[in-house]
Amino acid sequence: MSSSFVQNSQTPEQLYGDHIQQKLSRFRTILQSTNFDQLIIGSGSEKIQFQDDMAYPFKTNSYFREWVPLNYADYFLCIDAINEKPKLYIRCKQDIWHSAPQKLPDTYAQHLEIIQYSATEVLTKEFSKLAGRLVLINETNDFDLDTEVWNPSHVLNAIDFQRRSKTDYEHACLREASRLAVPAHLAAREAFMAGVSELEVASAYLKACHCAETEMPYAIIAGINENAAVLHHHQLNNQAVEPQSLLLDAGVQFNHYASDITRTHAYNSGSDFSAMISAVDRSQQDLASEAGIGKNPVHLHVQSQYAMANILKQFNILKVSAEEAVENKIINTFYPHGLSHHLGCNVHDKGSRLANAQGDQTPASVKYPHLRASAPMVENQVHTVEPGLYFIPALLDKLESSQNKDSVNWEQIKHWKKYGGIRIEDNIILHANGYIENVTRAAFNSAKKIL
Ligand code: GLY
Ligand code: MN
Ligand code: MN
Repeated sequence: MSSSFVQNSQTPEQLYGDHIQQKLSRFRTILQSTNFDQLIIGSGSEKIQFQDDMAYPFKTNSYFREWVPLNYADYFLCIDAINEKPKLYIRCKQDIWHSAPQKLPDTYAQHLEIIQYSATEVLTKEFSKLAGRLVLINETNDFDLDTEVWNPSHVLNAIDFQRRSKTDYEHACLREASRLAVPAHLAAREAFMAGVSELEVASAYLKACHCAETEMPYAIIAGINENAAVLHHHQLNNQAVEPQSLLLDAGVQFNHYASDITRTHAYNSGSDFSAMISAVDRSQQDLASEAGIGKNPVHLHVQSQYAMANILKQFNILKVSAEEAVENKIINTFYPHGLSHHLGCNVHDKGSRLANAQGDQTPASVKYPHLRASAPMVENQVHTVEPGLYFIPALLDKLESSQNKDSVNWEQIKHWKKYGGIRIEDNIILHANGYIENVTRAAFNSAKKIL
């Protein structure tokens, strides 16, 4: 691993032009190899709730997010081999109910050709000139195209494959997303230490990052005490309880790129739970430093299982060896999820199993068929590293009625259940020179706060 790395100090807006050029070049290759002349990506349409006149919060199609940092319905981006700039078609409708869409700042807009349109029929007519030579990536087939040219899987696979390697702009956005999340994690911890409810912890988080709940890249997970054992605990309690532990998994998005950060806190800093958090935290950092270009994420996952089993052993929870716990899947009771996933304009970024642009998948691991990331790591990719240890009643009950029931110390487990669990999650960039940039730790360090 190279120890030196000079970070590109340009801001996302300064890097956006290069990003567009790189994406244009990659997408033109895709057009050529899939035999299309033009690719249209829709931002998506608003969805109205069943038997109601209320729309769900709108979230842009992730294929659009890769190109345009806007979150509005009915926009279309058009990429071809001829035009120097991608065309962005913006829907202009008279709307007395809603605020006008925010404009793309000039620093971004200068890299696109922005065209206003008034009605879908106008675009249908425009795009019909290229019938058969045009491909549409959008949730709905707005222009009544042949179904073969609407989200064809071979085009989607090729896009997902190129997505693995992030541009400097994307790295800068991801850094910014982490930087914005730091004060929010700190404020949430402070709220927890003041003894508030899960809902108030989440409110403190939102207030500190100046975001609406609908702007979160994923729903905030704020589990206090036993609720920390619910991996995706979104149903936040509005009653304060006597605090023991907090597991907070929350990010922020910047230009559609998310941070995905988890920290676990002990209310009592002198407790054994606090010591276990430190042990998971050290292991997490060791595991992050084991990532690298060409490495197999499945092997890293197995390594993380050994690391978590060793911690259980250290705390007298496991009676058998770490090797036996991994071999017999006893560790899955305490650590039932994967170590890592790709991160980008999807929080669980797509393409994590692709072997090539043609859509072949890397064979699923026989022992770990459900792991999200299984293809070897590539340069400029962004991964999460998120080991955990939990005391989940349903899984513990299963273990207790299995042939492996004597492999753990049930008296100890009774004691640990009240803490729920621990997860520590950082986001890392695998730079081309081998340097592993831990974006999350860097963001906490520059805020001079280690959490
Ligand atoms: N926050 C969701 C995850 O960590 O995958
Ligand atoms: Mn994650
Ligand atoms: Mn997470």
